[in-house]
Amino acid sequence: MKKILYGSILYSATPNEVKEFKNSYLVLRDDLIVGIYERASDIPSEFNDAILLDYRDKLIIPGFVDLHLHAPQFQITGFQMDLELLDWLNYYVFPEERKYSNLSYADKSYDSFVASLKNSLSCYFSIFGSIHKDSDLLLMDKLEESGLVSFVGKVNMDRNSPDYLTENTNTSMNETISFFEKCRGKYKNTYPIVTPRFIPSCSDALMKMLGEYAMANELPIQSHLDENPNEVSWVKELLPKSKSYTEAYKSFSCLNERTIMAHCVWNNDEELRLIKEAKAFIAHCPTSNSNLSSGIAPIRKYLDLGLNVGLGSDIAAGHTLDMLEIMDNSIEMSKMYWRYVDNKYKPISFNEAFYLATVGGGSYFGSVGRLEPGYEASILVLDDSLLQEGYYLDTLIERLERISYTKKYKLLCKLVRGKKII
Ligand code: GUN
Ligand code: FE
Repeated sequence: MKKILYGSILYSATPNEVKEFKNSYLVLRDDLIVGIYERASDIPSEFNDAILLDYRDKLIIPGFVDLHLHAPQFQITGFQMDLELLDWLNYYVFPEERKYSNLSYADKSYDSFVASLKNSLSCYFSIFGSIHKDSDLLLMDKLEESGLVSFVGKVNMDRNSPDYLTENTNTSMNETISFFEKCRGKYKNTYPIVTPRFIPSCSDALMKMLGEYAMANELPIQSHLDENPNEVSWVKELLPKSKSYTEAYKSFSCLNERTIMAHCVWNNDEELRLIKEAKAFIAHCPTSNSNLSSGIAPIRKYLDLGLNVGLGSDIAAGHTLDMLEIMDNSIEMSKMYWRYVDNKYKPISFNEAFYLATVGGGSYFGSVGRLEPGYEASILVLDDSLLQEGYYLDTLIERLERISYTKKYKLLCKLVRGKKII
């Protein structure tokens, strides 16, 4: 299928470089980008019969990537955020996740969850399910049907959790294997991912089995790391022989280039060195970190170190799926870090936040996040004509920044891997 989108195209090529093409042609073949052409006469003739979608003067940008969120927390989004992480989990989250042992609850809830993801600005997701394999598989069926791209994990928990969310160690491992086997060959855009919740809720034996299984089969892994001070001290008590929380994941074979670690607020320099060496991804979740008073991740430092970083909504510790709002939050948090924590680390720019929300997280999925030849054709078209009345901004990145802060825009079109879903 050949398509051409006409409009004002921009993307972040590097943290320091935005590419802008006013009223130009973005040419797609099937699910991939062919190129951007400033004049119609430059488009190769084989695209003479392509479908032309005319979005003159509208903004065309890459679809966003949400690198961390929890599907079974969707119904408790936007309230109960008066506690820190460990109490928040015990009082609010675990009783809610328990409900997903019931398939009819999961069915109803995941319909609304997937509908919200579909209507959001994100095209790619890395999602925690619950410990309940059948509900997780149901979620994957719905995600596949939506056209979105996602990793979904059956969560593992065999200790320090309420009885109703505590698995037997071997059952937890066997259910994970069965989860992967059930997914094999079933989906095109939906992939299983190994998901130990975090070290406090997984025994050493379970962590070791999950890490070895993931390594032997080259599977992706996601978990939480260094989110909250009480959590970090608890891990020290649980694993007194480990040099650090990060070192512990490494020792369980859970830290490599297929790993996403959510948060990374409190890592020391040696832990950051291990993350860099492993080429693991960090899901920075600024909205969540302020809601749960977790802390401020030193995002400028991570960019300076060249770590792989993307952004995550962390629903429901984060209250919004709106990636533009999360980008703004990441900038605000970096300003607080600079002002209150360490004036060595300058605030990040709007383009740097745009980079994190597209290429930063997108690299986990492959060639995703740039509008360059060979990249996946996952694209948003935004109408900011309300903001163009009276005062016309010249650069496209300033228009996007203004959309982001004011919310005065309409989402006109959302393509995921070349398929129009809005
Ligand atoms: N750490 C372990 N589980 C969770 C969770 O559900 N949300 C957050 N934000 N952190 C966690
Ligand atoms: Fe989380």
